[in-house]
Amino acid sequence: MTIQIDKKEFELLLEYDQIEKNIRLIGIQINVAYEKRLPVFISVLNGSFMFAADLLKEIEIGCEISFVKLASYQGERQSEQIKNLIGLNMSLQDREVIILEDIVESGNTLKQVIELVKKEKPASVAVCTLLLKPAALQHDFDEIAYVGFEIENEFVVGYGLDYNGLGRNLKDIYRLKREIP
Ligand code: IMP
Ligand code: MG
Repeated sequence: MTIQIDKKEFELLLEYDQIEKNIRLIGIQINVAYEKRLPVFISVLNGSFMFAADLLKEIEIGCEISFVKLASYQGERQSEQIKNLIGLNMSLQDREVIILEDIVESGNTLKQVIELVKKEKPASVAVCTLLLKPAALQHDFDEIAYVGFEIENEFVVGYGLDYNGLGRNLKDIYRLKREIP
């Protein structure tokens, strides 16, 4: 099955059934690992909204969730890029944090998110990502504890992930097949 977004053709990579199944397995692991620890999920928007919604339905232990965005703005000096987590409306001090990501490619974004979360002095930080592109990773992370799927280094859309803002609503995940002439 293929779909078209703008001038690009995408083909089916992961069906929702499979996605649901792997999310259920992650849920079971988190329920066991975090029992009585009252974790805080930090869902990194926009991409992780669907994953967060489905995963949280599998969490049966007490937990909280906060939705954040990684924002960057110019600092005092021209060269300075300051990163900030916007939307964090609670203290993470001494909390068990689980960062929810849609996808980790180079890991640059995740590295910044982890650094910003750690500044809040949490008791622990783990990362749960639906997708991971191992071949594209440029950093070593001890924090990545839960991965839905490892995929090839190729562009994907659907289930929260977008191409130029489009495709986030797709229930399945598709990979880029070709440019339509
Ligand atoms: P990284 O910083 O290179 O790990 O890239 C992370 C961000 O790039 C993700 O949060 C996504 O927003 C975006 N991204 C990376 N790969 C894809 C993809 O295949 N489809 C859609 N967005 C992607
Ligand atoms: Mg993202």
